[in-house]
Amino acid sequence: MPALDKFDAIVTDPPYGIGADKGVGKYGKLKAGAQRWDDCAPDVSWVAKYPAIIWGGNYFGLPASRAFLVWDKGAGFKGRDFAECELAWCSFDANARIFSRDPLASGDYRGKQHPTQKPIALMQWCLGFLPGAETILDPFMGSGTTLVACAKLGRKGIGIELDAEYFDIAYRRVEEAYRQPDLFVSAPSGPQQMGFL
Ligand SMILES: C[S@@+](CC[C@H](N)C(=O)[O-])C[C@H]1O[C@@H](n2cnc3c(N)ncnc32)[C@H](O)[C@@H]1O
Repeated sequence: MPALDKFDAIVTDPPYGIGADKGVGKYGKLKAGAQRWDDCAPDVSWVAKYPAIIWGGNYFGLPASRAFLVWDKGAGFKGRDFAECELAWCSFDANARIFSRDPLASGDYRGKQHPTQKPIALMQWCLGFLPGAETILDPFMGSGTTLVACAKLGRKGIGIELDAEYFDIAYRRVEEAYRQPDLFVSAPSGPQQMGFL
């Protein structure tokens, strides 16, 4: 943390400790030599001290909050062997809100590069709850979706990732997002690798 530039808020999706790294599928299967990253949920009590949105907030024993964000995955997930929704805990006080978007029907999962990759639109929606936050930290960035959303909205993002392969994927996705910023948003400068810790 002391090595990081200043940040205004944290938006993150830590490992939930549910073994998502050992699941089936192209990106879900643990590769030889790859890091096991979802054996247990990390202590994220330090994150909760900042303005923060924490996906999987129901797994971390965080303080009571009425401000939960709900991602309703839509009709395609109803009654199937998948979660129909996911929950994000907020450190600030607000009304609970629901974002409805089917990641299959919308094509969000096309070209998915991480077993628990979030839709860019979902992370853009989250950033709307932190309007004054210019620089966002994601300490568990995975394939970099939070930083892609930041790039598209003209915010700065700082990401940390344990797995070198996911770090490279995130770097490429963020670079691509800077090449294609959203209209009407002034483009921030491109990605920089700050270091290996
Ligand atoms: C749930 S995934 C995040 C997925 C991300 N939201 C996306 O859209 O791709 C959590 C990530 O945290 C990383 N991770 C686990 N422990 C970590 C640690 N101590 N420091 C940094 N990253 C870590 C894992 O490698 C994994 O990629």
